[in-house]
Amino acid sequence: MPVELAAIGLQRDFVLERLEREFVIHRVWNAPDKAAALAPVAERIRGVLSHGMAGLPTEVIRALPNLEICVLNGVGLETTDLALARERGIVVTTAQVLYDDVADLAILLGLAACRRLVEADRFVRSGRWQHGPMASGHRFSSRRAGILGLGRIGTAVAKRLDGFGSMISYYDPQPKPDVPYPIASSALALAADADILFLCAAGTHGGGHIVTAPILDALGPTGVLVNVARGWLVDEPALVRALAEKRLGAAGLDVFDDEPHVPPALFALDNVVLTPHIASNTEETRRAMGQNVLDNVLSWFGGQGALTPV
Ligand code: 8YV
Repeated sequence: MPVELAAIGLQRDFVLERLEREFVIHRVWNAPDKAAALAPVAERIRGVLSHGMAGLPTEVIRALPNLEICVLNGVGLETTDLALARERGIVVTTAQVLYDDVADLAILLGLAACRRLVEADRFVRSGRWQHGPMASGHRFSSRRAGILGLGRIGTAVAKRLDGFGSMISYYDPQPKPDVPYPIASSALALAADADILFLCAAGTHGGGHIVTAPILDALGPTGVLVNVARGWLVDEPALVRALAEKRLGAAGLDVFDDEPHVPPALFALDNVVLTPHIASNTEETRRAMGQNVLDNVLSWFGGQGALTPV
């Protein structure tokens, strides 16, 4: 009898095609209630395929009594009940191949926000250049860069900022003893001393906002916020107000509170650069993420253990 898997988060075609040669896959990623959709086959499911946003929620773990492994096509763990998974002996794996791409996009958003890149493109296309030059942007190199969350993504951002001659400092609730960058005493203190604030923290749910209205005010009218972490880590209404009222200089945002919904008030603003959660979305990295899913499943059910467990 083939092993049966539940796909509760969308996977790449080449992954599903390869796995379907030897596994039965129940595709329920569009089901509003995934646990209920899996009820008729629940006893037979031994593996779950998911991704960083869909995770492995409590109700799915409870619904699947024989679950052994959950393979995530991403690194986010905010919707995964890791404690319950551990208690049940369920292995969770992540695709730890995306840090460089996410850091690249963080730099791109910082540059675009400082140098008004998207506005400049609109300026040329609309013919406004014929009537005079565009207003100045702000320098990106050699500025004070604050990194909120110095994990693997934050560290990759810092490495790139070194090349720009940035003055780097960071805040992380877990201080990193081996880094050459000074740690601020709080997120607020970091923002007060930064020109550009990079939010790179893990996206834990329910812990409140990390970037609050006072932090946006501390960044101030020439400050820039870049978010490649999670939208709900920022007080989004406060961010929209600060940008609209020019109390915050600019922002580069890849993530939002209620994706794919973006506050419409942002669409009219020139001081914000918006991307649709694409930080890991390069052909190379998305393929590597898919390959990681495939390799973990084949290794586990081939009796060789998980390759990238958390
Ligand atoms: C993906 C992510 O967009 O890994 C994460 O946590 O946010 C992104 O890389 C997400 O996993 C959907 O595939």
